[in-house]
Amino acid sequence: MESYINEVNFFNGNNPEELAQQYGTPLYVYNEEILRNCMRTVKNIIRKYPYTANYSIKANSNINIIKLAVEEGLNCDAVSINEVKVLLYAGQDVSKIFFVPNNVSDDELREAMELGVMTSLDSLSQIERYGKVAAEVSGGDLDHKCRRIAVRINPGVGAGHHEKVVTAGKNTKFAVAADDIENAIALASSYGLKIVGLNQHVGSLFMDPEPFLQAVKNLLYMAKFFENLEFIDFGGGYGVPYHKLNDEKPFDFESFSQKFEALLEEYVNDIGYTPLFKTEPGRYVVCEGGVLLGRIHAVKNNAGKKYAGSDIGMTTLVRPSLYDSWHDIEIIRDGKVVTGEKETITVTGNICESGDIICKERELPVIQTEDLVCVLDAGAYGYAMCSEYNSRFKPAEIMIMKDGSVKVIRRRQTFEDLIALY
Ligand code: LLP
Repeated sequence: MESYINEVNFFNGNNPEELAQQYGTPLYVYNEEILRNCMRTVKNIIRKYPYTANYSIKANSNINIIKLAVEEGLNCDAVSINEVKVLLYAGQDVSKIFFVPNNVSDDELREAMELGVMTSLDSLSQIERYGKVAAEVSGGDLDHKCRRIAVRINPGVGAGHHEKVVTAGKNTKFAVAADDIENAIALASSYGLKIVGLNQHVGSLFMDPEPFLQAVKNLLYMAKFFENLEFIDFGGGYGVPYHKLNDEKPFDFESFSQKFEALLEEYVNDIGYTPLFKTEPGRYVVCEGGVLLGRIHAVKNNAGKKYAGSDIGMTTLVRPSLYDSWHDIEIIRDGKVVTGEKETITVTGNICESGDIICKERELPVIQTEDLVCVLDAGAYGYAMCSEYNSRFKPAEIMIMKDGSVKVIRRRQTFEDLIALY
């Protein structure tokens, strides 16, 4: 495909140059309809059994995007107590939030218990910590809601686009290993805790579903060691084609769902009842519904190589610097996508680091100063990973609504915001 933004009519009648001028760059731009469509896709991954899709808000915790997820009937998962509170603030029902933290304090666990959020624990040590706090919070009442917990299991298989985002298998800090399951059950019981749910997460971004399906098999096998489970959550990780301009195919949910449901069917037939099944997609829900616009402020040659310098620093989009991630890029001039003559160029940001790049030695249309770069697939782990390094502002976020109107869904930071903590 030559241009994604033209193909899907991303700006829905708006001129990106005018948006950039009106709201300033860098600028995250979301498309309501694409976001809603992705939400509907994950909501239907499993049709045959009771199922919820939990939007994993670490991918993008903008309250206005969470509100869309709530409207579309998604549940949500949170990794920190603050994410739990953001969800409540956005109007998500507490019963639809699953708290999946890692290495948290008594205070964080206590707050979760007091809010009444179902919590998953991912080590023996955290089960013990939770058990002690639960005794206080429940005042010794063994039927108190906080006595009901989930445990995160390592299914032994990981997957992901980079070693830094693989969260299961042999090299990971996450989850309870299979060898420790009996200990976890005994420990929970010694603290009067009832394990009502299991969860796992293999890692982030797979296009080949096989490792995930293997992990599903493994988890379902391990689930048989637990009695009366109410839910099993298989985690997220569904991939997005980041090379769409090179015609990379989207994740095939249709065939994936069939294989997934076949595994569930075997399990349900075997145990004779049907728990609630869940998944936890983050990236898939928001990635393609967001792009990032930035302005080119300099073009130069350095030691025989060509560079275009933009205002999209690693503070605005860190994925290329952190994981060498690929994001497709389109160049916009006078509001229109530039096609035609190409050259090899590295597009960088405005941060004082040599690793501050958006793409390295990429074939792109010849770039001029004042052009806009439009970074695709920026809706997930984009704004969510922004920082204030070099005292840069976090950018504004706007949403193109279905009717073509534009809504500011988060304003750009100001200098007052930067100094607000002193
Ligand atoms: N559930 C749990 C427990 C997780 O740790 C994650 C992501 C998800 C669900 C959602 O996974 P997703 O569907 O988004 O792949 N910053 C990295 C990704 C880190 C993912 C962390 N955990 C990136 O930009 O690629």
